[in-house]
Amino acid sequence: MRRVRQLYNAVFAKLDPHDLAYIHNLLDKPAQEGFFRMAVCDQSHCLDTAYSVLSAASSLGLTDSILRHLQQAALLHDVGKSVGSVGVVARVVYVLVETWSSLQIFRYFGLDLQLRILAEHPKNGAQILSSIGVDPVVVKWVRDHHQPKDRYSRLLAVADSRN
Ligand SMILES: [Fe+2]
Ligand SMILES: [Fe+2]
Repeated sequence: MRRVRQLYNAVFAKLDPHDLAYIHNLLDKPAQEGFFRMAVCDQSHCLDTAYSVLSAASSLGLTDSILRHLQQAALLHDVGKSVGSVGVVARVVYVLVETWSSLQIFRYFGLDLQLRILAEHPKNGAQILSSIGVDPVVVKWVRDHHQPKDRYSRLLAVADSRN
């Protein structure tokens, strides 16, 4: 079901005024530019991930500062996908394969560069965010969001997997 929703989002995603106000409240100008560099489907997915973090966090007793940083990380966690254009086919293949060990096979289909972008997006995202002055803890959680190393990056990973 999640896969179907991801595919639907890739085609029909749209942000409404409430979403835009939420983004403007949480992100400073450079971070907003990072957010809006993403494809619209990724913007929508990151927004849903941030809303999931927000609703899950209410019962966890997080400080305001941690919760704010976690929502920022959720909004920006897939910014590394914006380093190039990634089509729907590559996204579907990536979600199905969930590893890039078989990248050589996809070279034949011309998908290898897009799959590399997807495979390296946590590291690239962290570099982008670091270069625009995003808080180091947000950068760290973005870098770790597919291999969570602490309670907070795990929370982000769970929210990510639900959207
Ligand atoms: Fe990701
Ligand atoms: Fe994600």
